[in-house]
Amino acid sequence: MEFKDSASYSDLAQGKIKHIDFHIVVDFSTRMLDIEATYELQGPVQGSLYLDSYKVDLKQARTNGRELEWEFDTGDDILGERLHLKGLDGDSTFTLMFRTSPEARALQWLDATQTAGGTHPFLYSQCQAIHARSIFPCQDSPSVRFTYSAEVEVPQGVVAAMAAEQVAVQEGSGHGYASIFSFKMPQPIPSYLFALAVGNLVFREFGPRTGVYAEPDVIEAASWEFAENEIKMTEAEKLLGPYLWGRYDLLVLPPSFPYGGMENPRLTFLTSTSILGTRGQTSLITHELAHAWTGNLVTNATWQDFWLNEGWTTYAESRITEVLEGKDVEDLRAAFSEKQLIGVMERVGMDSPHTCLKLPGDEKDADSFTTIIPYYKGCFFLKECEYAVGRKHFDAFIQKYMASFHFQSLTTEAFLDFLKAELPGAFEKVNVHKWVYEPGLPEEWHRPQSHLYDDVQEVLNAYEQGTRPTKQQAQDWHRFQIFSFLQGLPRKIPVQDCQYFEDILELEKRNDAGYYSFFYATCIASGYESVLPSVEQFMGKIGRMLYILPIVRAMIETDWSRGYVRPLFERVRDRHHRITVYAIEGLLKKAELL
Ligand code: BES
Ligand code: ZN
Repeated sequence: MEFKDSASYSDLAQGKIKHIDFHIVVDFSTRMLDIEATYELQGPVQGSLYLDSYKVDLKQARTNGRELEWEFDTGDDILGERLHLKGLDGDSTFTLMFRTSPEARALQWLDATQTAGGTHPFLYSQCQAIHARSIFPCQDSPSVRFTYSAEVEVPQGVVAAMAAEQVAVQEGSGHGYASIFSFKMPQPIPSYLFALAVGNLVFREFGPRTGVYAEPDVIEAASWEFAENEIKMTEAEKLLGPYLWGRYDLLVLPPSFPYGGMENPRLTFLTSTSILGTRGQTSLITHELAHAWTGNLVTNATWQDFWLNEGWTTYAESRITEVLEGKDVEDLRAAFSEKQLIGVMERVGMDSPHTCLKLPGDEKDADSFTTIIPYYKGCFFLKECEYAVGRKHFDAFIQKYMASFHFQSLTTEAFLDFLKAELPGAFEKVNVHKWVYEPGLPEEWHRPQSHLYDDVQEVLNAYEQGTRPTKQQAQDWHRFQIFSFLQGLPRKIPVQDCQYFEDILELEKRNDAGYYSFFYATCIASGYESVLPSVEQFMGKIGRMLYILPIVRAMIETDWSRGYVRPLFERVRDRHHRITVYAIEGLLKKAELL
């Protein structure tokens, strides 16, 4: 099936890419990838083929022994440039030779000083949502799937890892380059799941299907933190069906990675800030692992259907967490999530189309959809469907859903058709239209109930009455109780209370960037001016947008800090991935600070 995708220039009626063969030379000195890519199409193409690209420097295009004409014939800031290949004459293959730009949106090139070890440079990619086009021209739409193979040439001393199967390593060959790593991805993937990383990486195995890549300095800690992944896979398979991607490894990235995790197939990319020394953030892995089904196997057809990826994954994450960490913990997380969801909906406007599950059709900037709304609202909607028909029927539905659509992309409408046919009871009892196509939240639904959350609300109530909690009271709190406490504090509190809470919650010792995200936002709103150097240090190190954007927002919204935010951003911008820079610039522009 073909889908209209407002975030892509491609015209799928012309034909579709089926396979790509890459030869990639990684040049740290120029911060460019030199690529020769041979594309195979699903069938012969006559005439034109449009591909998405972003600042790609194309040198040559050829097919079946002849040169192909081409031009970049239209373009804009967000979508990049449309590459128009001309004069295809029943050809089903062509080769492009090109270089990526040092400004390629998907790539972050890090100096040695920005890595854990400080000795080798590092490169990694982040293609979701529409950044694959800055690495290679493609039909950059999640409705197109292709297989690929790749040879990656890297300088001596560094290792290449891809979200694919490693098939060979050739040390010491190539034109002045030390090693060639060869990969293949035999399962068809959408372009946003293409992923590459190069750095001083070592590998440690957890079990027959799982392991972790990390810099030598963090491999020990990472191996301990995520050692339970094999068990996690078994639980995920019980819920979602067989794992179809072979291995499931992790790759720990430097802390400037813009996300907590990215579900690249076979190899989840992960922020190093998820290593807490407590196994306290393994639900992040549960989330990325669940994407191996909900997202990677069954994929949103367009970014307007993003909730099909993230809402389903958040639902699966909650089911697996319930088994692994218990119902109390899952209820707590759900109650916290509901409060977060309402907070974000109020910020964007309860009647904004961005609070609908199906997102507005004319939006090109797919990254702008990345709020937590599709995650939590999507999850709560699926829970409503589960309540309506009972867990037994819903679980059978999940397995059938995966089996029916694996390696396919689908729209919200196709999903709803399937739901109606397979679970008519859900359609009768749940106001599906309201959940999916209307803004905000329905008046009546099974809102999360959690006694662990309520305990924290009592402490917060007492605080509002003038009694501060003691260290003992907070000592045994679950991570999500600490979150709930920080989340529930009044927006503005006395500065000495900020200091007091930092102490009794042992924020420094726990070293959890998630806590500091809430904490700094409160400090700023409360006028705790001397916290600014610590905020700058945090912003210069942590890239996870979920954590740093709330701090930027707090600085913008608070009178005393408003003037500091842009200079602070200018000082740290070089340490961040372009995706993060772009997001912060967006906030500054909206506030007329840029
Ligand atoms: N696929 C997302 C990350 C993403 C979303 C990248 C949109 C680009 C565009 C990933 O699975 C994710 O959701 N990560 C979250 C963590 C999750 C546990 C909420 C993150 O990075 O914060
Ligand atoms: Zn996700």
